[in-house]
Amino acid sequence: MLALIVAVAHNRVIGKDNTLIWHLPNDLKFFKEKTTGHVIIMGRKTFESLPFLLPNREHWVITKDKGFDAPEGVRIFHSPEAVAEAAKDLDAAYVIGGAQIYEAFLPFVDVMHITEVDHTFEGDAFFPEFDASQFEIVETIEGTVDEKNKYPHKFVTYKRK
Ligand SMILES: NC(=O)c1ccc[n+]([C@@H]2O[C@H](COP(=O)([O-])OP(=O)(O)OC[C@H]3O[C@@H](n4cnc5c(N)ncnc54)[C@H](OP(=O)(O)O)[C@@H]3O)[C@@H](O)[C@H]2O)c1
Repeated sequence: MLALIVAVAHNRVIGKDNTLIWHLPNDLKFFKEKTTGHVIIMGRKTFESLPFLLPNREHWVITKDKGFDAPEGVRIFHSPEAVAEAAKDLDAAYVIGGAQIYEAFLPFVDVMHITEVDHTFEGDAFFPEFDASQFEIVETIEGTVDEKNKYPHKFVTYKRK
């Protein structure tokens, strides 16, 4: 099963200057709960934006660079199709970004976990428009706004019909 996980601002922004913009510990916790123990799939830019390899997750990185030098344990792919083929027998694999990779994987994902952040941010990376009629919302959880989680947010799970 191939899933996608993303946090999206009101104006579809997901990042700026190859970093995340907002800090929402609730979302980081959600991301960790969902992805731990599973394969995580990402573009080369998102991979390079990680401060370190995320524990207890197998990293799959997509790049056109045939000579890409990855740390030990990181699996390299050169097309979304090759990733989709390799992931098809896994219980769950999570596409974790960024913009180019979300766009490329939209046709392949069965489930999307979208943290909808109800705030507008300036950015340069955007989550693509998708055809909502192809998905149904199977869960919506309101996030708790508090001192550490300043922006209203909800965790919405979309399943392909
Ligand atoms: N809010 C969120 O949940 C979230 C999550 C993740 C990332 N982000 C943000 O998203 C932004 C990064 O997104 P991005 O679109 O710039 O980069 P990206 O999708 O992370 O990576 C793009 C790279 O992936 C490779 N690639 C893309 N399509 C390919 C294909 N068809 N075949 C082979 N390789 C392919 C290329 O690598 P090469 O150039 O090496 O060939 C390309 O430069 C950052 O701001 C990051 O913080 C946000």
